[in-house]
Amino acid sequence: MEKRAFIKSYGCQMNVYDATRMADQLRAEGYAIVEEAEGADLVLLNTCHIREKAAEKVYSELGRLKNARGASGERTLIGVAGCVAQAEGEEIIRRQPRVDFVVGPQAYHRLPALIKGAEAGQKPVDTDFPAEDKFNHLAQPTRRAITARGVTAFLTVQEGCDKFCAFCVVPYTRGAEVSRPVAEIVAEAERLVEAGVREITLLGQNVNAYHGADGRGGHASLADLVGRLAGIEALARIRFTTSHPNDMGEDLIAAHRDEAKLMPYLHLPVQAGSDTVLKAMNRKHRAADYVALIAKIRAARPDLALSGDFIVGFPGETDADFEATMAIVREVGYAAAYSFKYSPRPGTPAAGREDQVEEAVKAERLQRLQALLLDQQRDFNRACVGRRLPVLIEKAGRREGQWVGRSPYLQPVHIPADAGGIGDIVEVDISAAEGNSLFGTAVEGHARPSRSRAA
Ligand code: 5AD
Ligand code: SF4
Repeated sequence: MEKRAFIKSYGCQMNVYDATRMADQLRAEGYAIVEEAEGADLVLLNTCHIREKAAEKVYSELGRLKNARGASGERTLIGVAGCVAQAEGEEIIRRQPRVDFVVGPQAYHRLPALIKGAEAGQKPVDTDFPAEDKFNHLAQPTRRAITARGVTAFLTVQEGCDKFCAFCVVPYTRGAEVSRPVAEIVAEAERLVEAGVREITLLGQNVNAYHGADGRGGHASLADLVGRLAGIEALARIRFTTSHPNDMGEDLIAAHRDEAKLMPYLHLPVQAGSDTVLKAMNRKHRAADYVALIAKIRAARPDLALSGDFIVGFPGETDADFEATMAIVREVGYAAAYSFKYSPRPGTPAAGREDQVEEAVKAERLQRLQALLLDQQRDFNRACVGRRLPVLIEKAGRREGQWVGRSPYLQPVHIPADAGGIGDIVEVDISAAEGNSLFGTAVEGHARPSRSRAA
């Protein structure tokens, strides 16, 4: 009987992408990928270490999996991958002996060997940062697998980070910044598009610092890469995330003005609004620099919407510092945002500081910030009512006879399924905004069929 594997991912989009690459690899090893742990021969937890809560989830999940068995009755092999694997290594097996192997994000191409070792009872741990490029050694997805994943896809172009923000584990879990070569990314994108993908989100922890080999002895910037990908005819939309303000180059800003396929939506975290806190966070820019940058980007692309990340309660953050965060949010205006209480992470500079902010203060600040951000999101969504927006249809809606797609600003848009089909971009007159979603009707005669449907 075919063996079954279940992969559960936590954390960021890069983990989602990695899970697809590991699934492709396991499929090449003869596994069927299943949607639940129940009855699986192999369970792989693809973990996140960014905040304490994320990291602790792994251990409660492992506790639940203790007695897991495959359909044949044999004990399920349990592997821990991702950033907790990288950060804690062998410690995971010490804390939860039921774990059979541990694999860090840079060693996924060694998965088959690790599984063999685990089957032999060796409890292998691989948290190396090998010299070879793992992407070159991972199995390619089949056309069927790509199609099954839908019309939007992630593609990692850059991994790791050299910025060393004082709160962040990423430089330790994902290592130094590495960019994949342009040709490799273009080939992967072409394969995706060939199988029906219409929108690609380029991923990197510091994606706008991308500087991949261009095949002519030089390096391509993210803007160059976007330009190359835009040349793939059936690819309709390009996005990228996550960016650092200091790497927002002139050419990337210009790409937002000139490249129609690049969506007018930018995730550009500022983290905090106080210069004292920004300095302590080692962000290497002031609040005013960020505001000026936003003005420049908006001058290039006036309809661009922004999203951001914020941390409240960074060590030493005073009431006045926090008010500066509220002020920058009011000044910039976000279409969406993620905000978090500062969580001390082992091994990061800020974790050792003695001026940690009390939990109750963090909670109160977070509540106020989130209320403001939610208001802004609601305002942004409401302002879309009455507009005509291009919507990429992604799938059938929850209700009968409905499609769900995405606007350029990533809002889910629900429309009657009488126009267009999955993979088409239709012009939609937006008539209502509810919660995070928009509702509307497709404008007749404005459907831009995807190539696969038109063919
Ligand atoms: N505590 C709280 N939030 C954090 N982030 C990163 N590290 C921490 C931490 N130690 C947030 C940042 C980052 C997002 C991915 O997670 O806002 O942009
Ligand atoms: Fe979590 Fe960061 Fe790892 Fe993504 S890269 S899984 S956010 S720790």
